[in-house]
Amino acid sequence: MNNDDFLSDPQSLVIHGDLDWDNPETDDTALAPAIYPASTYSARNSAEFAEMANQPRHSRYYARYGNPTQERCERLLARLENAEAALLMSSGMGAMSTTLFAHARAGDHIVAQTTHYMGTAQMLTDLLPNLGVEVTLVDQRDSAAFAKATRENTKLIVVETPSNPTLTLTDLAAVADFARSRGITTLADNTFASPINQHPRDFGIDLVLHSATKYLGGHSDLIAGVVCGNREAVEKIWARSIVLGTNVSPFNAFLLLRGLRTLPMRVARQNENALALGRFLEAHPAVTRVHYPELASHPQHELAKRQMQHGGGVLSIELKGAPGDETGFQAAKNFVAALKLAKHAVSLGGVETLVVHAASMWEASLPPDKMERAGIVPSLVRIAAGLENAQDLCADMEQALQASEIR
Ligand SMILES: Cc1ncc(COP(=O)(O)O)c(C=O)c1O
Repeated sequence: MNNDDFLSDPQSLVIHGDLDWDNPETDDTALAPAIYPASTYSARNSAEFAEMANQPRHSRYYARYGNPTQERCERLLARLENAEAALLMSSGMGAMSTTLFAHARAGDHIVAQTTHYMGTAQMLTDLLPNLGVEVTLVDQRDSAAFAKATRENTKLIVVETPSNPTLTLTDLAAVADFARSRGITTLADNTFASPINQHPRDFGIDLVLHSATKYLGGHSDLIAGVVCGNREAVEKIWARSIVLGTNVSPFNAFLLLRGLRTLPMRVARQNENALALGRFLEAHPAVTRVHYPELASHPQHELAKRQMQHGGGVLSIELKGAPGDETGFQAAKNFVAALKLAKHAVSLGGVETLVVHAASMWEASLPPDKMERAGIVPSLVRIAAGLENAQDLCADMEQALQASEIR
């Protein structure tokens, strides 16, 4: 037996899965990785320089091309997503934009969803169309719509499930099966689920992307993104990343690897807390709707059971309106402001519970029709559960609902 035979459980994998243990040439016997701040690396002779400068990528050449700390972190990330290779980049958006640029050029067509993280949505509806890439958005709840929207020139299908901020699901197997039959590459943003709750590659998805800023890092102290897939596909994205300059910093790769050591334990607690909050809020008279895939009330609960281990750490709720505030916009603002333990901040996946009022957050940048298409109703509040005690979190929500006088 070798080291890898003991890594089938995710908690064992995150502790040991970055080590290239059975390779006698490895220099990563140090249990915590070294951080290499070097921007450049010297070659001993011209043959070595030629090797460093060319593909396959070399982690000791020039830091925009990669660095050894990143390489070690990528080894673990690839294993977590059941992939051959991973490419760690500067942010989730760095990973998304680089992957999109690697797959589409002017004249190509992409099929994506009507609900995506706003940065991704902007890439798909603004930046790429302005560069001559056609994009068709479909309702992700209708699996057949992806097939109907494809054309001869469709190069990529982009999905995000659960999607931000409405926790709407996409049937990964249905999309992947169809795309494979047509030779179209599929890309899934798995940020909300994390590799602990969902493995898109097990359903046939080609590329899996994360904002590593969220669950993978887990401590609200780094920005990074990753894409995982077959080696050839990841190398193709790398070739774009060195031109776009979307490389990750060595220090962030170090922090990410440190965060990953506790990923399964953190996510298990966040799953429990989100479910406890979902159940509590669903029974509350001030709450009209809870969006959380693990609750039987979620319209795609059966699909959640098929493709997710648990519902994840994020839920969103809709609040009751009142005379003069029929839409609940003000109620939601008051509720968020009245929270004491949960913090009013963007992002998710960290140890602390974070809450945002989606309609105020996107008010300045998103016109009402786009807001509606993204499922953002005026009273929608997104809650990203942290690791606090679940009863404390429910008590905080109760006092904030009372303080905001929703009746
Ligand atoms: C689902 C999803 N994908 C991608 C991103 C972008 O990640 P980053 O902020 O690391 O660029 C986010 C950020 O919130 C996200 O929620």
